[in-house]
Amino acid sequence: MKKYSYVLLFLFSMMVFSCTTAEIPLEKNPTPITQTVKYTTDVKPIIDNYCLSCHGAVNPNAGLSLVTYQQVRNSTQNGNLIARINDQVNPMPQGQLMSVEKRAIIAKWREDGYLEN
Ligand code: HEC
Repeated sequence: MKKYSYVLLFLFSMMVFSCTTAEIPLEKNPTPITQTVKYTTDVKPIIDNYCLSCHGAVNPNAGLSLVTYQQVRNSTQNGNLIARINDQVNPMPQGQLMSVEKRAIIAKWREDGYLEN
């Protein structure tokens, strides 16, 4: 019985461990964002620079277009966008995580309620 619970504890800590290593926690942001984040002024420039080369209007990779406010909002709201920009193993954009400041802007946008302008 005791052995069994050690096994469970081990499995559980492996689960927690593998989750925490996959994402860089945003608490590490050295410059916390105090202002309200908006799509047009704050989020769109990041998406335009880092994502549109592959997720543009024509033939977007993974069928995911990130051209409009609503498209970016949908992908953020369903969790995929935030998960992938913080995914150390398979990040978006591919190859390297964006700076923690940029990723924090998108997290704050979600927190602030997806304001457009
Ligand atoms: C060099 C091309 C490239 C760039 C730049 C790029 N992506 Fe991707 N993206 C892909 C490819 C290819 C896939 C499908 C394969 C995969 O999931 O790894 C994908 C998949 C995704 C997915 C998962 C699919 C889905 O429907 O949810 C998300 C979310 C995503 N990208 C978001 C982004 C965001 C946000 C950026 C910019 C910060 C970005 N990508 C930049 C090529 C790119």
